[in-house]
Amino acid sequence: EKVCLAYSGGLDTSCILAWLLEKGYEVICFMADVGQEEDFEAAKEKALKIGASKVYIEDLRREFVEALCFPAIQCNAVYENVYLLGTSLARPVIARGQIAVAEKEGCVAVSHGCTGKGNDQVRFELGFYALKPDIKVIAPWRDPEFYTRFAGRNDLLEYAAKTGVPVYQTKAKPWSMDENLAHCSYEAGILEDPDVEAPKDMWKLTVDPFDAPNKPEDFTVHFEKGIPTKLEYEGKTVTDPLELFLAANTIARRNGVGRIDIVENRFIGLKSRGCYETPGLTILRNAHVDLEGLVLDREVRALRDQFVTFNYSKILYNGLYFSPEREFLEDAIVSSQKTVNGKVRCRVYKGSFQVLGRSSETSKLYDMSESSMDEIGSFEPQDTTGFISVQAIRIKK
Ligand code: ARG
Ligand code: SIN
Repeated sequence: EKVCLAYSGGLDTSCILAWLLEKGYEVICFMADVGQEEDFEAAKEKALKIGASKVYIEDLRREFVEALCFPAIQCNAVYENVYLLGTSLARPVIARGQIAVAEKEGCVAVSHGCTGKGNDQVRFELGFYALKPDIKVIAPWRDPEFYTRFAGRNDLLEYAAKTGVPVYQTKAKPWSMDENLAHCSYEAGILEDPDVEAPKDMWKLTVDPFDAPNKPEDFTVHFEKGIPTKLEYEGKTVTDPLELFLAANTIARRNGVGRIDIVENRFIGLKSRGCYETPGLTILRNAHVDLEGLVLDREVRALRDQFVTFNYSKILYNGLYFSPEREFLEDAIVSSQKTVNGKVRCRVYKGSFQVLGRSSETSKLYDMSESSMDEIGSFEPQDTTGFISVQAIRIKK
């Protein structure tokens, strides 16, 4: 029987691969390229050496940007006030890619290396079941046969040595990471004490704000219907969605923008400390938030903020992307963004983000003379006396 394993090239999934083979499965490895900086070819070699019968490396970067990152920007998605959902956003795309390979190969099961305490197991598996209800899931870290045998890293290393799993001499980092083109996460290990400061050399995507250039960098982001459509920087213009996102990363990374450190509530009810860096997404989202001030109707914005942003973010975080509620909210997002056209001139400097100015050629919501303190405009000053009197009826009581 064939199993499709989400393979990373690391020690855990390499041992899982060997263990699945030991149990008599034929294993097809699946690697999603969601923009992580990784040696895919070396990982592929390794999987084949261990005994995988095939290794698929699928470039899902464009789908990730267009189908997940852009809607997240459109609704200013954020979990618990600070987390921009970098890991959560990539999971649906990876689940879809893995199921596609499993179907093509006629696999009876899919497998992954997620722990039994996290969000990712939920996200992947709800995705698998939504896309292919009859698929079997093998989650070794929840299988007593596996986790009692491999209680710690040493057991894995011993098993690797015994089964011919190559282990590179790189010292394991004292935390766990997950990377894609939107972000990199750091959790567990020495970070489990929420009062221990993240070491300076942990962060891999962004330069330390202290070490960033002493000169600010300016750029302009254009939006159509709330989606970034053009980025101008260093005299260059980028319009392709993937290239645009990568350019936003370049700007933010070298200026140290997008680091956070949070204790969050996982879906299963545990609290967890995480450090995340989300360079490009941070500046694109900030620019979008700003443009909405100019072009979005007040009541649409208020309802969207109260209802759509919170719930869309929670749905993504909890792994319910493939659900009717996500589809419903995405329709609402699109509808809310009809007027979000225009451009925002931005500046980044040593970890900070600033807006220099914004404009829209299509929106008439902001009227300079109406809002001006120096002109009378379209209504009489006496009119607001009545407005205040009526508001005051209740307050006076
Ligand atoms: N806590 C974050 C989240 O749930 C990051 C998870 C990182 N995942 C990982 N496999 N290292 O979205
Ligand atoms: C894991 O537990 O596998 C990683 C962290 C998470 O999924 O939340």
